[in-house]
Amino acid sequence: MSSAASEPIFADRLLNDWLASVGLGIEYSRAEANTLYFRDGSGREVPVLDHVCGFGSLIFGHNNPDIIEHAKSVLDEQIPVYVQLSRQSHANALATVLNAILRRETPSGDGDYAAIFANSGAEAVEICVKHAELERRARIVRLTDDVLRHVEEAREAVGAGRATVAETPYVQVGAARDDREKLEHLIAEIGRRNAELVAKGPVHLALENAFHGKLVATVQLTQNPHWRMPFIALSSSTRFLRADRPEEMKGAIEDLRESLLDILVADGAVTVVERDFPVIGAFFVEPVQGANGMRPLTEAAAREIRAVCDAVGCPLIVDEIHSGMGRTGAFLASSHMGLQGDYYTLAKSIGGGIAKNSVALFYQDRFRPEFEVLHSSTFAKDGFSAAIAMKVLEMLEADDGRAYRVAAERGERLMEMLSSVKADFPGVVDAVDGIGLMVALEFTDQTRATSDLIREKAGSGMLGYVVAGYILREHRIRVLPVGPAGNSVRFEPSVHLTDEDIARTESALRDVCAIIRDQDGDRLAPR
Ligand code: F0G
Repeated sequence: MSSAASEPIFADRLLNDWLASVGLGIEYSRAEANTLYFRDGSGREVPVLDHVCGFGSLIFGHNNPDIIEHAKSVLDEQIPVYVQLSRQSHANALATVLNAILRRETPSGDGDYAAIFANSGAEAVEICVKHAELERRARIVRLTDDVLRHVEEAREAVGAGRATVAETPYVQVGAARDDREKLEHLIAEIGRRNAELVAKGPVHLALENAFHGKLVATVQLTQNPHWRMPFIALSSSTRFLRADRPEEMKGAIEDLRESLLDILVADGAVTVVERDFPVIGAFFVEPVQGANGMRPLTEAAAREIRAVCDAVGCPLIVDEIHSGMGRTGAFLASSHMGLQGDYYTLAKSIGGGIAKNSVALFYQDRFRPEFEVLHSSTFAKDGFSAAIAMKVLEMLEADDGRAYRVAAERGERLMEMLSSVKADFPGVVDAVDGIGLMVALEFTDQTRATSDLIREKAGSGMLGYVVAGYILREHRIRVLPVGPAGNSVRFEPSVHLTDEDIARTESALRDVCAIIRDQDGDRLAPR
């Protein structure tokens, strides 16, 4: 709620006013499993069913008692939490467990992944941006070393009179006294052009409607223009490709091709040839696109994305920050569509709902060991969040992966319910999408609605927030919108979702759908 005008406000001034304006400005005082509680005017605790669950970071719910107990015990043991630049075997222990799971779930079934720990999802993705650039730079150095060697070979051949400089469409060498001078002009011009190319930053590939974070590099991988455009000058650019048109992907990046100029001595002639230059840094992919209304990649798209990376020679970075850690019924969502990554990112639920933790995993053959010191953070790899992550992994893997089965089964029940709502409100619900406990319901376009309020809110991309505010006020259920037009409602509860929770959610959604069907917009208005 907004504070009294006289009170100075130093944090969340704009945000809190806006939350209040859409009916979401509630302060919660307690949280447990899928329930948040706030106190009403008379001091009574009011429960709210939470489908947002920390933006999907709570696979085991708020304040899971087993995780809390474990946290208390490790704190009681006075484990060292921050001991940078010492032997921290908990990092390797955690990476070992992650590798065992990845071996089971990645299509190749082989490979060991080197782990770099970080603090947030976006930091893990930034780490991948940096590592991919190290890989690209190494390829560039190999190429430019080749060119330098060829330049010397040409000098030798021309100096010894074994070769002459041939006409080339790439470089106009102009007037020169002899072949030696011609060659030096050629070398200088090639050097100048190559240096320009080498100094350029990479172009990254991502999918339309991607979300990979909001740090300096990652925000350029996040398509939403409101978040990306103000900072476009700060970092490398991204080419966004359509996940629903996999057959167009290769063609869509054709114009990114660039060539380094090289020199070739053959049959007594020095000529100039083109060599493919690694323009593309990496391809970043979410197996389930959260900000695109929880759309899972198709197998066809997954195949094509892998083929693009293989053709270009860039790493495929599978961002499992949102979809990983069991939410989709498997540890990795990418395992459902057979997508093999070169790097993986995990975050959100690895923190068990109480710690901040993330990790980037690199296929060993590509990993550059110097990166272990090239990237670091005071807080990364700390003993506390590592202990929590170990506990979360143990809970996911317990009873032969019971948690994954529960996530899949609960997700199916949720999806069945959403599909039945869609069937009963064909003009109101456009689609239900998602997998496991990562699903969304998309409303039809309401920008031509007859209700003024519905039309205006849809036009400004705010309809989803107004719907969320209504569902919170009238049904005590917390949902948030997602999707490019903000007209989807997302559901990413914990594995503790009950049939009763699903039934309550169904009546809330049916209520909202009836309001939209009847264009009874006034009922949605925030109070
Ligand atoms: N990558 C993906 C796929 C994400 O969903 C997110 C965050 C991030 C990276 C960035 O992680 O917030 O820890 O820096 N997604 C949140 C969401 C914001 O709305 O689901 P972060």
